[in-house]
Amino acid sequence: MGPVFDTVFNERLAELLAWRRDVRRFRTDPVPPGLLDRLFDVVQLSPSVGNSQPWRWAAVDDPARRQAVCANFQRCNDVALHEQADERQAAYAALKLEGLRTAPAQFAIFCDVETEQGHGLGRATMPETLAYSTVLAIAAFWLAARARGLGVGWVSILDPAAINAIVDVDPAWRFIAYLCVGWPEEEHIDPELARHGWQRRTDAGRTILQR
Ligand SMILES: Cc1cc2nc3c(=O)[nH]c(=O)nc-3n(C[C@H](O)[C@H](O)[C@H](O)COP(=O)(O)O)c2cc1C
Repeated sequence: MGPVFDTVFNERLAELLAWRRDVRRFRTDPVPPGLLDRLFDVVQLSPSVGNSQPWRWAAVDDPARRQAVCANFQRCNDVALHEQADERQAAYAALKLEGLRTAPAQFAIFCDVETEQGHGLGRATMPETLAYSTVLAIAAFWLAARARGLGVGWVSILDPAAINAIVDVDPAWRFIAYLCVGWPEEEHIDPELARHGWQRRTDAGRTILQR
C-alpha cells in the first residue's frame, strides 16, 4: 500500500504550484551541489515515453560558455523585439527575460532523439513524445527546486544550433531548454509578465469540451 496524501498535503501542493514562478532575478550565492543532486534524483522519477528517459542535462559553468550564451540571447532578443508590433516594442524592451548574468547555476537541457532506451515504444507515430518527456523532467525539477526555495528561470530566446555548439554536445541531442537556477531575490504569487502588464493569466484552456 502506497502513501496516503492527506488534505494538508494537497493544500501544500496547491500552494507550491501557485508559488512556482519563472525567476529572472537571482542572488549570486551558490547552490550547494548536494541540493542539486537531490533535485536530479527527483528528475529521474519523471514519466517518459517507453521509459526512455531521454533528458540530458549539461551544467554550464565555464565563464566563456556563459558569455557566449548571453551574447546569443542578446542577438535573438533583438530580433524578437523587432518582430513585435510597433505599439508593443517599448513594453517588450522593458521586460527582463533572463537571469543569465546572475544565476549561480545554469543548465542546458537536451533530448537524446536517438536513444535506444525504451526500444522505440510509444514514439513511432509521435517522435515528439521524446521532447515532451524531457519537458516533464524539467517541470519536475522546477517544482522540486521551488519546494526547496530555489528559483528557476526558463530561457528560450536562444538559437538551438548555437547552444548545441556552445555547450558542445552530441549532435543527436536536441536543445530543449536553458535554465537559470538560484536563490530568488524576491517572491511573488503572480507571474512577472502579468505584473508588468504584458500578459495576464486567462481561462484559455479551462473549458473542458464534452464529446
Ligand atoms: C517553454 C517555456 C519557455 C519560456 N521562455 C522564457 C524566456 O525565454 N524568457 C522568460 O523570461 N520567460 C520564459 N518562460 C517563462 C514564462 O514567461 C512564464 O512561465 C509565464 O510568464 C508564467 O509565469 P510563471 O512561470 O511565473 O507562472 C518560458 C516558459 C516556458 C514554459
